[in-house]
Amino acid sequence: MREMKKLFVTGGAGFIGSAFVRLALEEIPDCQIINFDALTYAGNLDNLEGLDERRHRFVRGDICDDDAVLAALEEGADAVVNFAAESHVDRSIHSAGDFIRTNVLGTQVLLDAARERKVRRFVQVSTDEVMGSLPERDDAFFTEESPFEPNSPYSASKAAAEHLCRAARHTHGLDTVVTRCGNNYGPRQFPEKFLPLMLSNAMCDEPVPVYGDGRNVRDWIHVEDHCRAILAVMRRGRAGETYNVGARNERRNVEVAESVLNALGKPPSLIKFVKDRPGHDRRYAINPAKIERELGWRPLETWESGLEKTIRWYKENAEWVARARNGAYREYYAKQYGTT
Ligand code: NAD
Ligand code: TYD
Repeated sequence: MREMKKLFVTGGAGFIGSAFVRLALEEIPDCQIINFDALTYAGNLDNLEGLDERRHRFVRGDICDDDAVLAALEEGADAVVNFAAESHVDRSIHSAGDFIRTNVLGTQVLLDAARERKVRRFVQVSTDEVMGSLPERDDAFFTEESPFEPNSPYSASKAAAEHLCRAARHTHGLDTVVTRCGNNYGPRQFPEKFLPLMLSNAMCDEPVPVYGDGRNVRDWIHVEDHCRAILAVMRRGRAGETYNVGARNERRNVEVAESVLNALGKPPSLIKFVKDRPGHDRRYAINPAKIERELGWRPLETWESGLEKTIRWYKENAEWVARARNGAYREYYAKQYGTT
């Protein structure tokens, strides 16, 4: 396939989107990126500091606004890569409206615009959570054939978005590909998610809240490994296919909390077991054999190397964390955990 040189990235001021933009600028030397992002509470221009303005243009806009999307896509693109989403399960439990709006309606607006602007390929960044929860057995894994069984408003909205991509391909012949990844960690993740929340709390000697019995399992991957997988799928994935992305790194939440505290030199007594999340999925575990076999993708980071780098980044970027933990974050924290 001809190289993808003009990229239209949505949600590129967020955690994973900003890592993808950095990687794409590095890996595709002459690519041009339009980064379209509404700058919700999770979007942060600090995440784009230092990028080459000749090759990266930021446009503030909402993916539900079809006029704004069409205008930003005026000159067409080789690929649309859709990261823009409401992404936090706990928020979707408090209120699902924004999830349906952005993740479902927004994806349809982008699909229509991609068709109208004759975009070559549409990459939908999805999640393993669309496949629901696995039993705690060594031989149970998500594959691309696993049924859709979303359990939270977040995962249901992401499943709906996947269906819309499938329909755009089947009905209109749009070239769509989907990636489904597990739990990402790395620099610039908004501190409402488990890993950066623990890091930022523990660094201030505040308790680290662990839901329920702490034995829920997540399959962790470093954000740059996820972005390398998205690049591979964008460039070489087969049209219409879905690729699961995972680093074969299952951990119980309480083990993750212990590793983080240990790495920071903080006592395990900071762990505080709190009320469980309603409908909390028990286990996610991804079989990434398809992307390994077809595209030769492999993660480069181990859990140990990735965690060490991530912790170093949060220690060296206390300012970023302090800014992210200001304002609206405090209100959310009080609502979710009952304290500020
Ligand atoms: P994030 O919440 O950090 O960033 C989301 C970005 O989307 C923000 O910059 C926000 O401003 C932007 N956005 C939100 N609504 C928008 C709208 N209506 N129009 C334009 N921009 C909008 O999320 P993330 O963790 O970087 O996740 C990115 C994508 O990857 C999401 O689609 C998510 O479902 C998917 N994903 C995330 C993970 C994970 O572990 N974080 C795992 C698998 C898949
Ligand atoms: P999260 O980062 O919200 O990702 P997801 O729900 O998409 O997997 O949570 C990761 C795991 O950590 C999940 O099992 C819920 C749990 N968790 C806690 O135990 N305490 C917390 O304060 C948070 C935010 C999450």
